[in-house]
Amino acid sequence: MTEAPPLPRHVAFIMDGNGRWALARGLPRLEGHRAGMETIRGLARHLGKRGIPYVTLYAFSTENWRRPADEIRGLFRLMAQSIKKEARALHENNVRIRHLGRTEGLDAKIVNDIAEAVELTSVNTGLNLSIALNYGGRQELTDALRRLVAAGVKTEDVNEALINAHLDTSELPDVDLLVRTAGEMRISNFLLWQSAYAEYYATPVLWPDFDSTEVDRALADFAHRKRRFGGL
Ligand code: FPP
Repeated sequence: MTEAPPLPRHVAFIMDGNGRWALARGLPRLEGHRAGMETIRGLARHLGKRGIPYVTLYAFSTENWRRPADEIRGLFRLMAQSIKKEARALHENNVRIRHLGRTEGLDAKIVNDIAEAVELTSVNTGLNLSIALNYGGRQELTDALRRLVAAGVKTEDVNEALINAHLDTSELPDVDLLVRTAGEMRISNFLLWQSAYAEYYATPVLWPDFDSTEVDRALADFAHRKRRFGGL
């Protein structure tokens, strides 16, 4: 009997290439983001089927605020239209939604929709889907350290487990597989602490084209990696 290939417990995605996908079709960039949203729907379904328990998506970084105001407005309008509807569908599929990132700086309606989606799905036991929105790895670590200092934690009590417990991801395991689409080879301030031993997978495929065949390609690649975590 052959053993099942090792599966990652936690897969994180840097969704890149929506703009280029739209441009190649002579469409406005927002249409690329809309298509990217469709990809997310298929992805959640497929990874759930494959038995991956934790999936995290980089939807909007703290650096994305540098984009043109028009694009930011469009992107947030798209998210405002989608979160409620998608949350209901995900809830029916037993998916638990979490938010990573700061709520300050986000529109009150989005904050409210996210809080409702998190609350609605909080008892679900299927796929754990975390959305990094207004998220930055350095900001997350800074906020965690601030909380520790404010709580008056003693120097000798500071350790990795304590820092981990103060991150937005305190309920998630470390990232096993970090996927980035559209050919870029950067970490872009995403899950810096949590990806310390993640396997990296880069593909030239643009995010809207990242379908279940591409997901399986990434999982198959992961299955062949020899993870040593610094050992031999
Ligand atoms: C990268 O493509 C994509 C983004 C910055 C945004 C992705 C966000 C979504 C699809 C919405 C997700 C929302 C929720 C609530 C899950 P790009 O614009 O950087 O593409 P380019 O590099 O080709 O220009």
